[in-house]
Amino acid sequence: MGKQTDFRYNTGATKVPWAAVGENYNAADLMEIISFLMQGEGKEYDDAIAAVYEQVKKLDKVSTPPGKLSLGSQVEAAEAACNVYLGTDSSTFVTNATAGFEIAYKYANLKEGDEVIVPAITFVATMAYPLAVGAKLVFADVDPRTINMDPKDVAKKITAKTKMIVPVHIGGYPVDLDPIIALARENDILVLEDAAHAFGAMYKGRMVGTIGDFASFSFHEVKNITSFGEGGIATTTIPGFGPEMKRARFFGTDFSKPIKDWLYNVTPIQGKYGPFVALNSSTTEIQGLGLKLQIARNEEIIAERRRAAEYLNSRFAECDAIIPQDLGNQEIKPTFHLYLLQIDPAKAGGDVQTLKRKLEEKSVTNIPHFGPLYRFKVVSDMGYDADEIAKTCPVCEEVFYKRFTHLPLYGLSDEQLEFMADAVLEAVAEMQAGK
Ligand SMILES: Cc1ncc(COP(=O)(O)O)c(C=O)c1O
Repeated sequence: MGKQTDFRYNTGATKVPWAAVGENYNAADLMEIISFLMQGEGKEYDDAIAAVYEQVKKLDKVSTPPGKLSLGSQVEAAEAACNVYLGTDSSTFVTNATAGFEIAYKYANLKEGDEVIVPAITFVATMAYPLAVGAKLVFADVDPRTINMDPKDVAKKITAKTKMIVPVHIGGYPVDLDPIIALARENDILVLEDAAHAFGAMYKGRMVGTIGDFASFSFHEVKNITSFGEGGIATTTIPGFGPEMKRARFFGTDFSKPIKDWLYNVTPIQGKYGPFVALNSSTTEIQGLGLKLQIARNEEIIAERRRAAEYLNSRFAECDAIIPQDLGNQEIKPTFHLYLLQIDPAKAGGDVQTLKRKLEEKSVTNIPHFGPLYRFKVVSDMGYDADEIAKTCPVCEEVFYKRFTHLPLYGLSDEQLEFMADAVLEAVAEMQAGK
């Protein structure tokens, strides 16, 4: 039996379905997917898979394939779940967080000559679009306690050319947004929250990702929850722009406005300074389904991560060279995507480079991933002088080279957590003993 609806245009049930809808997945394909998602070996596993295959073959005979595989009811359901969870009506499911950033940057008509303030420490995704279009990246120094963008330094770096400020909630710990939003309002600047790590975080009682003019969350496979490996939710607080963001996800197509002798229209998206042309960051129904299922577990996952962070803090309390992760409070709720491990080099008898090496020797993963962006070759080759920028970001230099690394918090057994805490304490004790 053919599919009931057709491709993106969703023309409804037809007797002659449109072949462009694509080939169906059959029972054998489905089994490959199940055994990919649920891997194993041995007789018990093989027997279980064989039994499932028998049932899937039966199911194949009595079922019909989904009418849509892209931007359909599952994507809508995931967006609806995000809207409820975040308290917004603008959730737009896009291919990844970076695609959400792109829509925001395009809304600001970001181009050569414009300036964007990004934190000195983040992932390349935050700055990729401005760098690509030749806008000037201005690196804000970080708060040594959280390693997030420091609003006081942002204030110093705003110029008449600043078009956007991009606070990044690193590790899921909320940026101090109020002063940043106030600066942005005073200077007619747009705020894009990089909320890649922060789905479910709260700042002063408000959900992170619903406070700036735009935000984008990541559901890439290494985030707290994922939509089958890739995915992002973009949001906006700009009045009336929510529905536009949905159009911006697919070239600006407007199915609600048919034009003469044709089915639909394509119109530009109205940005802050004029129209812009949108590209394609559509997501699949499978991604939608994956996200919907995992959102339901998000609070539980954050709670488990919090317990792991609390445990590490309790273990590290005995060592005054270790600065504990800030666990937040009633108003500030992190997602505990990463544990921010910081040391005081003077008390630890060495800096974090030594600690990282020792942790590696003790076979503990640490995540030396978020570093000074201006040190990347892609930035220097675009004409930036890393050493000059470093002088404007002294805290970033100090914390990255001397003080912090990240530890994982999720999916670890009690034994693994204990092993990791022991390893950190032993490593610092060795450093203190000059070993
Ligand atoms: C801070 C930060 N921003 C943005 C991104 C980009 O997310 P995505 O891979 O969904 O585009 C990441 C991904 O790891 C990230 O760590």
